Amino acid sequence: MERLEQIIASHAGRQGALLPILHDVQAAFGHVSEDAIRAVASALNLSRADVFGVVSFYHDFRQSPEPRAVLKLCRAEACQARGVEALAAQLPDNPHVKIEAVYCLGLCSVGPNAMAEGKVHARLDASKLGALVESLA
Ligand code: FES
Repeated sequence: MERLEQIIASHAGRQGALLPILHDVQAAFGHVSEDAIRAVASALNLSRADVFGVVSFYHDFRQSPEPRAVLKLCRAEACQARGVEALAAQLPDNPHVKIEAVYCLGLCSVGPNAMAEGKVHARLDASKLGALVESLA
């Protein structure tokens, strides 16, 4: 919280300080937490709803930490034809792995495919995909 207080103090008295503070909070912590929203609202004499509204409006602001790993799951036509949508629907939420849609990894004949940590994983089924997500978490 000390770092948060420093950020807020560095903008003291500045007009239109909300966005610069939020950008600095995001840069320092990787996201704007509920605690940060509360502290910024208090410091700027705004309601938490006002600050939350700004945080949720701008896509640059995250309200939770960035997941550690990213799994790029191909959602293009060939992988769709091989069942990727059913696989994606079965994936359990894992807060440590961000699932991103990509549109063709160039290995259409061996789909469904995904890429993680620079490596392509082909011929995915529910078991392989689940194990892959677990290995990244
Ligand atoms: S469509 Fe999935 S790899 Fe090309």
